[in-house]
Amino acid sequence: MIEEKRIFLTGAAGFIGFHAIQAFHKRGDRVIGYDNFNGYYDPALKEARVQELKKIGIEVIRGDLCDQEKLDSEMTEFGTTHVVHLAAQPGVRSSLENPQACVKSNEEGFVNVIESCRKLNAKLIYASSSSVYGLNKKVPFSEEDRTDQPASLYGATKKSNEVTAHSYSHVYGMHVTGLRFFTVYGPWGRPDMAYYLFTKAIMNGDPIKVFNHGKMKRDFTYIDDVVDGIVAAVDLGAECEIFNLGNHKSIELGTFIETIENTLGKKAEKKMLPMQLGDVVETYADIEHSRAELGFEPKVSIEEGIQKFIDWYKSYYK
Ligand SMILES: NC(=O)c1ccc[n+]([C@@H]2O[C@H](COP(=O)([O-])OP(=O)(O)OC[C@H]3O[C@@H](n4cnc5c(N)ncnc54)[C@H](O)[C@@H]3O)[C@@H](O)[C@H]2O)c1
Repeated sequence: MIEEKRIFLTGAAGFIGFHAIQAFHKRGDRVIGYDNFNGYYDPALKEARVQELKKIGIEVIRGDLCDQEKLDSEMTEFGTTHVVHLAAQPGVRSSLENPQACVKSNEEGFVNVIESCRKLNAKLIYASSSSVYGLNKKVPFSEEDRTDQPASLYGATKKSNEVTAHSYSHVYGMHVTGLRFFTVYGPWGRPDMAYYLFTKAIMNGDPIKVFNHGKMKRDFTYIDDVVDGIVAAVDLGAECEIFNLGNHKSIELGTFIETIENTLGKKAEKKMLPMQLGDVVETYADIEHSRAELGFEPKVSIEEGIQKFIDWYKSYYK
């Protein structure tokens, strides 16, 4: 008998959550979202995403991860079998500027979520990050590599989630899967991320900030590919696993900017700056483990993905 999935998805008003919850809904799983709509970036974008979800019959509860009672009661009432936990305080820079907010949502919030899962015997699939690789120099980054040298507090909180999940799996036999996302981009994306800031600045004729003089490489992963990985991880429902979800292509920042320029048909005015605190020079995902266990196969090229983002950006901001 196929188990009926009732998926409680945190961070549903956020970028990745908004896309992931629709994928589960479309294929017939029962879903409900949970989000506090915080003001880290324009809450109007979060509200607009949730309006889109409402149109197709998806409900998003307004609540905070730090409210354990509410989490417990909402998850119980929904009859949750799986929790896809994507709510967090993202951003390397933000974790340096506002460390307490980062620890509150990412560590206290995580323990609350895993506690609620334990009480309901629900499987947990949660967002980790390529940031856990920190100062690891060996590329591509494999799940076997060192992750005890984070370069930022944000990376440290994501590593803390992974070790916390391991301990719960060991003690209570819980099913936990951590997904290390690599620079996810696409329509309805996050306004604090470089691709969004670059697009906005180039369109407005403003200069863009290019850190480390452009000598950086990132593994940019299109949202639909990441969502495929999340869905596959829910279906696998592994005992205790960690997977990289990256595009397996590390691209120079300069090439990335060129792709945006070509798509917009407009050159960027570049302001070259030194490396920012907390940043790493390169990210690059080894995806052999995800390929083997999740059938993960990224399909969208950077040119195609950026075109889709810019099409959305123009229509959203008219
Ligand atoms: N986008 C990326 O490139 C990327 C890369 C690596 C990891 N991640 C992780 O993936 C997850 C989703 O990221 P995203 O890009 O969609 O970010 P996002 O900020 O768009 O979404 C996160 C959502 O969580 C909500 N939230 C934050 N703190 C909360 C709290 N205390 N209680 C309830 N809701 C809260 C926010 O309101 C937001 O809507 C995060 O865990 C993030 O750390 C993202």
